[in-house]
Amino acid sequence: MPTTRTDSVDADAVRELFEHRYGRAPDVVASAPGRVNLIGEHTDYNGGEVLPIAIARRTWVAVSADRAARSSLLRAVSSNETNVGEAQLEPPKRSERWWDYLTGVAAPLVAAPLGGKAPRPVAIDAAVVSDVPAGAGLSSSAALEVATALAVSTALGETLPLREAAMVAWRAETEFVGVACGIMDQFASALAREAHALHLNCDTIETDDAPFRDAVLIIDSAVRRSLRHSEFNQRRAECERALELLQQRWPALRNLAEATPEQVAEANLPDPLGRRAMHVSRETRRVREAVAMLDAGEPLSGKLLLESHESLRDLYECSRPELDWLVERSIAEPGVRGARLTGAGWGGCIIAVGSEDALNAAAPAIQRDYVAKFGLTPRLWLSKAARGAAVEAR
Ligand code: GLA
Repeated sequence: MPTTRTDSVDADAVRELFEHRYGRAPDVVASAPGRVNLIGEHTDYNGGEVLPIAIARRTWVAVSADRAARSSLLRAVSSNETNVGEAQLEPPKRSERWWDYLTGVAAPLVAAPLGGKAPRPVAIDAAVVSDVPAGAGLSSSAALEVATALAVSTALGETLPLREAAMVAWRAETEFVGVACGIMDQFASALAREAHALHLNCDTIETDDAPFRDAVLIIDSAVRRSLRHSEFNQRRAECERALELLQQRWPALRNLAEATPEQVAEANLPDPLGRRAMHVSRETRRVREAVAMLDAGEPLSGKLLLESHESLRDLYECSRPELDWLVERSIAEPGVRGARLTGAGWGGCIIAVGSEDALNAAAPAIQRDYVAKFGLTPRLWLSKAARGAAVEAR
């Protein structure tokens, strides 16, 4: 059954792996969590708002930096991977392998140290342990990038503010690894706080915290998301086109999320652009409503969660029958306040929100019925809003 445990991996585990591999102790250990988004989907790359929480699953990275090295090289080992990585950092070389996340983060930190110091060759050794499930849409890559940014910068003798760590991580993902994601995942992993959701305005990059004490049941549909990247890029292009058309009428519009639902309706955009734009416009307003509720000490409304899901299903068209079924099935259980798909969609996870007891009680029946209906084995995790990234030891 779902577990809230987080101690399957920890600072000791990553230190041990590091020592075993490199024969000495690391200089620094840092960690960063995966995330789920409570509401505000496909709004981040449209200048809108999002409301993610960090989950109780983390990635731990141990690092040492050797400044006596003759060239800047990265070596990396992970408890979840059989292959050991080695990569040149100057200029960084892409391998299409798991350690590209580390290379993409470490290279700019080594090449341009903070405080304008002249760069010198540095050899970075890194070890990674993680219990963030990969490939489920829980931002295992963001957790790895953010933890690496904190560990490497600290090993280089610098204090990287968490926001900067998020930016370094996001640039690595978009510019080096080459995934055109928005900023939500890296910011959530870096900046989220325990017992709070992170309210992030993706236009201004302003953040604040909204108290969030409920539990979240995360259900991975086990649906493969092979179309995910192409569909994601297609939606991005549709949003850009919708914005161009809206700007012909309202030149001052800075981004799609800023367009009001009334403007979108009035513009009468061709299908599917009108539906995409309407989703983005309304979804960002739902985030504001959700934040107002949490700030007022109220629980997150199930109605808002369901509206978000229906909009993703009908207007943004990024759901799947399996996800729709999981949402419907979850909200039929007593004490489950609401549910929706979370993350990019086209597979991956849904979240159900409620009290820890209610979700624990609901989980077995949902799991059993899903297996019977689809013949797929879902994975379930229970989490509360966990802490964000941190340097753990140096
Ligand atoms: C993925 C991306 C995020 C965000 C979501 C959709 O998770 O990485 O930046 O765009 O999809 O909300």
